Amino acid sequence: MQIPFNRPYRAPRELDYLAEAAASGHTSGDGPFTRRATALVESLTGAAHALLTTSCTHALELCALLLDLKPGDEVIMPSFTFVSTANAFALRGAVPVFVDCRPDTLNLDENLVEAAVTPRTRAIVVVHYAGVACAMDTILAVAGRYGLAVVEDNAHGLGGSYRGRPLGSFGALATQSFHATKNVSCGEGGALLINDPSLVERAEIIREKGTDRSRFFRGQVDKYRWMDIGSSYLLSDLLAAALTAQLEAFGEIQRARHEVFDAYAAAFGFSMPPGHPAHLYYLLMPDLAARQELIAHLRGRGVQATFHYQPLHDAPAGERLGRTGPGGCPVTSDVADRLVRLPLWAGLTPSDVDRVISSVAVPA
Ligand SMILES: Cc1ncc(COP(=O)(O)O)c(C=O)c1O
Repeated sequence: MQIPFNRPYRAPRELDYLAEAAASGHTSGDGPFTRRATALVESLTGAAHALLTTSCTHALELCALLLDLKPGDEVIMPSFTFVSTANAFALRGAVPVFVDCRPDTLNLDENLVEAAVTPRTRAIVVVHYAGVACAMDTILAVAGRYGLAVVEDNAHGLGGSYRGRPLGSFGALATQSFHATKNVSCGEGGALLINDPSLVERAEIIREKGTDRSRFFRGQVDKYRWMDIGSSYLLSDLLAAALTAQLEAFGEIQRARHEVFDAYAAAFGFSMPPGHPAHLYYLLMPDLAARQELIAHLRGRGVQATFHYQPLHDAPAGERLGRTGPGGCPVTSDVADRLVRLPLWAGLTPSDVDRVISSVAVPA
């Protein structure tokens, strides 16, 4: 019996809600389930406004459009992240400026951010890796000093917190992912969180193909027209139905995931700071060869384990479209080679977890 790396959770009411959405006839975006899921996302994240999107990637693209980034503008971000963090801004012609991560949290090293600021810098994008908070105090202070926008790529961090405040509530904008690999998922999906009220109206327009259709549906205008550039970023209400069921089960999902996380932490002696949402568990091996050996060894014992991000700063597109900040990204290059993620999902049984632990412990 294989232990998969990930298996999406299925919430108790998911199939009923999907059937209800299909039967209702409202399968396009912004229907009744979108309203329910949006309210749940807002209450979990403390965001005043959330807009469901087709993915976190698209929510990041919305951020780049909302910040009106122009070719040559610079955006500071970690090299240790998913390609979408950089792509969303590169699509506008902006230049990702890659900064190294901290060896303890693998988050953007807040002490290196200021040295990467130039007169072209417009924004700082943080990624809360594994849902562990970046040092937002320092990052917000640097942003404030230079008048930069802060965007939180909170793909991992639903339910996570920093000094008691939910992740996603710190930046002018933040993004969530509901991809099948995330704690809460609907196959593919995401959300844009808007903490700067001045961006709400334009965000609605850009998400609705550049039209004021959302205002039309609320009866605020008598026809909808082309108002701005935009694209189609609405989540289907079918997927919002699945998402609603998952968000309603958030407490149960988190309880199950924390149980697995805590068992790994007890066995391997590596944990994460309080406030993390048990999104992933990783080990750092001594070097690349040891990491590859462990993944192969686990595969041989029916346990799927995997590496994670490949650094962006020296990837082909990173070198072509981005720039590396002063000092380079040596920590990123080092940890990317050594990191292995273990299976972590809500349906893992205690005996699955024991098997993963004993398989890691047995030498190859
Ligand atoms: C940090 C980060 N940002 C963005 C994304 C993209 O999310 P999505 O698949 O919802 O577009 C991911 C995907 O895992 C991610 O890890």
